Amino acid sequence: MSATILVVDDEENARKHIRDFLNGEGYEVISAANLEEARSQIRQDNADIILLDVQLPDGYGPDLLEETSHIEARPPIILITAHGDIDMAVEAMKNGAHDFLQKPIQFNRLEQSIQRAQKIVAMRRELNHLRGQQRNELNFIVGKTPVMRALVQHAQRAAQASASVLITGETGTGKEVLARAIHQLGPRASKSFVGINCAAIQSTVLESELFGYEAGAFTGAQKRKHGLMEVADSGILFLDEISSMPVDMQAKLLRAIEEQAFRRVGGTNLIKVDVQILAASNRDLPTMLREGNFREDLYYRLKVVDLDIPPLRDHKEDIPALVGLFVKHNNQRMGLNISDISERAMQALMQHNWPGNIRELRNVIERAMLFCDEATIDLPHLSPEFQP
Ligand SMILES: Nc1ncnc2c1ncn2[C@@H]1O[C@H](COP(=O)(O)OP(=O)(O)OP(=O)(O)O)[C@@H](O)[C@H]1O
Ligand SMILES: [Mg+2]
Repeated sequence: MSATILVVDDEENARKHIRDFLNGEGYEVISAANLEEARSQIRQDNADIILLDVQLPDGYGPDLLEETSHIEARPPIILITAHGDIDMAVEAMKNGAHDFLQKPIQFNRLEQSIQRAQKIVAMRRELNHLRGQQRNELNFIVGKTPVMRALVQHAQRAAQASASVLITGETGTGKEVLARAIHQLGPRASKSFVGINCAAIQSTVLESELFGYEAGAFTGAQKRKHGLMEVADSGILFLDEISSMPVDMQAKLLRAIEEQAFRRVGGTNLIKVDVQILAASNRDLPTMLREGNFREDLYYRLKVVDLDIPPLRDHKEDIPALVGLFVKHNNQRMGLNISDISERAMQALMQHNWPGNIRELRNVIERAMLFCDEATIDLPHLSPEFQP
């Protein structure tokens, strides 16, 4: 993410020094020599982050905190204090300063502080961006990280080609969300998306669920029933937790996929379909292959395109955007108007390991919003495991 940093300092040398460093790190820099110029830049919404000197020719820097406190998404303000002026710094932090740095500025501290501020800015941008969107956008957040971007690109290709896709990833990483996104991205978007959770269905009824049955096929089969393969005709069949499918059923499924045809249980007619298959698993299929619990031929048939979603701990940079998405959803759903998250709360989220991945993050945000009566989610609103 690119950010524009407003440097407010009356000393030209100091401004230049900071500007050179920040430009070198890839930031845009604008500057103000006094409070009046700073106010004007803020009014024009030119700054994402503000670096603010305390003593300025036309006033006291920290007054800007109070003055701008009503701005809904005020840029994070980093104060530059004289050495030893701790009382003032503490007071400023209470008034909502993002951070303070002592003179002479250490560039590594400055860089760290700006990076943290950027997370807040990124989260807000996502929130704003979503607010501005009218249509019901894809619920799958693409994210900013190269891994997630590549993933979505591959998903897009698979969608357009109607290819079979095997989606793998730990629990809560978004396998089902991605499957639905593939549906929306491809030529079958207006056709059905039929999901079946192979782990939730008894293996004895899996076959009749998938292929349907004829009247009289077994006791209790009073009328013909269409299976999900038929329901999904010209659309998509999503086989969730495919690893739970019994091996004999796997053989029947493979045949049906390859021939795009099958027979109902108790039936003789061959029924032709055109179904795109998506499958998901959070178990390690290669291990199951070796142990003989998953058929190799089916495995390779399913993974024409292979999408492995990384655990959230491996793409934590996407947390701010995800938080923005969930805040927006919950605002609508729960009738709230939360517009921000505090620096320390965001820090705590960034430090967590997320064993439950994106689902866990969604739940943490929902809980925080239930406990939050202000416009800003803060550390105490997060569950006990996030408390220092
Ligand atoms: N990329 C994403 N963008 C937005 N929300 C997401 C994303 N990925 C996951 N989620 C959220 O996380 C929840 C869990 O996702 P999903 O049910 O797809 O996980 P899963 O990988 O199928 O997990 P499991 O293996 O436990 O079935 C979703 O309901 C959604 O709220
Ligand atoms: Mg799932």
